[in-house]
This record gives sequence, structure tokens and C-alpha cells, in this order.
Amino acid sequence: VIRAQRLAPGPPGRPLVGCLPELHGDTLGFMLRLQRRYGDLVQLQLGRETCFLLSDPDYARQVLMDEERFSKGGRWDTMKPLLGDGLLTASGALWRRHRRLLSAAFRPEALHALVPTMAACAAEMLDRWHTAAPGAAVDVSREMMQVALQIAVRTLFGDDAAPYVGAIDGAFHVANRELARRIWSPFARVSARLPSPRARAFSRAIATLNGITAELIQRRRAAGVQRADLLGLLLEARDPETGAGLSDRELRDEALTMLLAGHETTANAMTWAWHLLGYAPEVAGRLAAEAAAALGGRVDAQAAQGLGYTWQVVQEAMRLYPPIWMLIRRAEAPAEVGGVMLPAGCTVIVSPYVIHHHPAHWDAPARFDPDRFSPERAEGRHRFAFFPFGGGRRSCIGKYMAALEARVVVGMIAREFRLTRLPGQRVDPLPLLSLRPRQRLRMRLERRERAAAAA
Ligand code: HEM
Repeated sequence: VIRAQRLAPGPPGRPLVGCLPELHGDTLGFMLRLQRRYGDLVQLQLGRETCFLLSDPDYARQVLMDEERFSKGGRWDTMKPLLGDGLLTASGALWRRHRRLLSAAFRPEALHALVPTMAACAAEMLDRWHTAAPGAAVDVSREMMQVALQIAVRTLFGDDAAPYVGAIDGAFHVANRELARRIWSPFARVSARLPSPRARAFSRAIATLNGITAELIQRRRAAGVQRADLLGLLLEARDPETGAGLSDRELRDEALTMLLAGHETTANAMTWAWHLLGYAPEVAGRLAAEAAAALGGRVDAQAAQGLGYTWQVVQEAMRLYPPIWMLIRRAEAPAEVGGVMLPAGCTVIVSPYVIHHHPAHWDAPARFDPDRFSPERAEGRHRFAFFPFGGGRRSCIGKYMAALEARVVVGMIAREFRLTRLPGQRVDPLPLLSLRPRQRLRMRLERRERAAAAA
């Protein structure tokens, strides 16, 4: 659609670029202001795209639950050089088949077997922290990214993949930056086809990731042993109708999709939780007490169940800083939303960030208050007032895994350390593909008394 007529209120925008400059500036503030100023159905022009920002939870439900009409469209094609036809990027019959195949691996019972691996990764990080000088500062954002990547790699490929984590980290870093650049910029998508140092670095990064996954898959097939990690489950997965499994190429696509979709989101959720805890010592104290009580001995799935308040804290962090801060769809046919007929081909944006801060659905939306997620207060809330994992058939397949991981990692840290704010530390959100801190989040480490921790 080239410049549709005005169907709903919204900012005038400029010729050609529309509101792209505002979007690229203070992105999150811009989105919030659109809702505050123009309401729950806003029309805006982003370059050539006619977009609608929908911020009523009912509209979010309508869009996310109707995949026929509101598809993921071609935008995710930008990710295909990296992710191929993995779940995130696939569509149609291929997506349906894979989603069915993969859901077995993401059943809670299957995921419970991964908790010891998660705990081992967290324990290695904590061992390192114990060797730091008392009162030293750690880069929490970096540490959370590292531990989440360790967990993603080792729950997927097993512990023998540990030596590859560094190489995977470096390659993802390059690929991620390049993809974040391309996703909103048609110019970057065109220039990507021209030879340049950046394009070469991107190709090299992809070759590295392909090489490592191919080798790990190959080795596992050759060894022929069954293992309880995700790769083991993916290798065994069979289509209930045809009995077919996944090819090596399909395995590669799904493995890289899971590594990428799984680690950065979870790391950001945990990082924001620590940032917020730095301002809320009482909440941090309650969290530590819960961890001490629930994680007495071995950290397994059952112990993780005892970390209900920890999960409330992480959920509240994801309300304020949803790792996936906007979901984008394309209207495949004209569709009526809130009394307005959205034209076929338009872009529909549903932002967890905007809805999670919506004053009609949250009182004092900017306040950090994990009790919002106590069972009593969460009951009866609109399903789409809080939706960090999306909704409908394309919702996050890894949400239960993320919840387990966040409980285990945050709980294990809280049991052994107190993390306090550094004076003058400033942290702003930076919305790239996921919502991460713009500056490094550095915090001071204080060891908790072992005795107190065990009490
Ligand atoms: C806190 C952590 C996480 C958050 C906030 C999150 C969020 C999301 C969201 C919002 C979507 C839907 C995107 C859309 O509708 O456009 C999604 C999809 C997906 N996520 Fe997650 N995710 C997290 C962790 C994980 C983990 C741990 C994994 C895997 C190990 C994972 C794998 C996926 C996959 C494969 C999809 C695509 C599903 C499909 O289309 O069928 N995610 N995630």
C-alpha cells in the first residue's frame, strides 16, 4: 500500500519517510506517545508502509488469534539468511508441520530434565563470581547473556558443546547487529547484496554457525546414542501422520532458531529484573529469602517450582521491559478492527511495551511491583494485557523453558549474592530486535553469608 487515505487518527509524518525519523529516535517514547495522544488505534506512515498501532488488549487478541488474516508476512524473510525456515521464519504448511514436531520437545516433562544443565551453567558463573574481590562490580548484562547462551547451547547440544560457546557468541553478535539493521531499513536490505566488509563479516558469521551446528549434528548421528537434550528430542521427533523426521538442513534451521530466539530474550528479561531489583531492596530481600528456602540442596525442577515469587519478579520485569517489544503482522485481506476497516497489505503493530504501560489496564504503570503477579491479583486480568510471549498459534514455543531458566538462574544468584546499584549508573532501554539495556548494567556484588543463605 502506498499512502492509504487516513482512516484513523495519527501523526501527520513527513513526505517519503513518514514517521521513520521519530521511530529511529526515542523509539519507545514515540510509541507510548502515539497511544497517549491518538488512542488505541493509530494510523502512521513508516516510509512506504501504512501502519496501524493497536493498543487495546481486545485488538491484540483479534490480531494474534487470527493468523489467516494477520500473517507474519515477508518481514521475517530478512532473518532467513541466518535462520532458514526455522519456526520463527517459516509459514504455512511447513510451519504447521514443524510446530507439531517440535512441541514434543517443549513439553514441561521433557524440559524438566534440562534443569540440572541450567543449574550447572549458573553454578559455573557463580564460581567465577566467588573468585572476584569482595565488593567488585560485575557487568550483569554481559553475565546474563553469557549464562543464557551457555544454557541455550548446552540444553540443545549437550555439555560437549561447551567449547563452542565462545565462537557461537562472536558469530551471533555479528549476525544480530546486521539483522537488526536490515529489518526496518529497505536501504540496508538492498545494500546487503553488494560486496562490503560488513556483508563479508555477516557471511563469515553464518558460515561459522553452520559449520558448528553441522558438526554437532553429524557427531550425534554418528554416535547413535539417545540423549535427553533438545537435539536428542529433535532427532527422535516424528510427524504423527507421516512418520517422517527432520532432515539435517531442517535440524540446522531449528537449532539456530532456538539458539537465537532462546538466549537473548531470556538474558534480557533477567538483566532487567536485576536492574529493577537494584532500586527495590525489600523485593530483593524477599526474593533471597525465597531462594534460600526453596533451593536447599540439589537444584531440580521440583525445587524450581518453589520459586513462585522469583517468577513474579521476572514477569514484572518483562511487563516493564518486554524482551520482544513489538509484534508485526501484515493484513492479508481487509479486516475490521475497532470499527475501522484496515486495508489489505497494511502493517499491523501490536506492542507489548505499549499495552504493558497502558494506564487503562495498569495502575501506576511505571511502578515496579511484582505483587501485580500474585495469583490473586493476576486472576481475571485480560489475557492480552500482559503478553510477553505473544499469543495465538505463533506464540512462543519456549515460554515454559524460559520460565524455568529464569527461576533457576535468578534464584541461584539471589541465594548467594546481593547485587546493588552503582551510584550514577544510568541504564536506558535500547529497542533492537529485542529490548536490551543501551549501557552496560554494572552492579556491585556482595556475598551473602552462607549460613544465612542456608537458613
Ligand atoms: C523470556 C524469554 C522469551 C521471550 C520474552 C520470548 C518471546 C517470544 C514472542 C513474543 C514470540 C512471538 C513472536 C511473534 O508473534 O511475532 C516468540 C516466538 C518464538 N520463541 Fe520465544 N521468547 C522467549 C524465550 C524463548 C526460548 C527459551 C525459546 C527456545 C528455546 C524460544 C523460541 C521461540 C520460537 C521458536 C518462536 C517462534 C514460534 C512459532 O512461530 O511457532 N523463545 N517468543
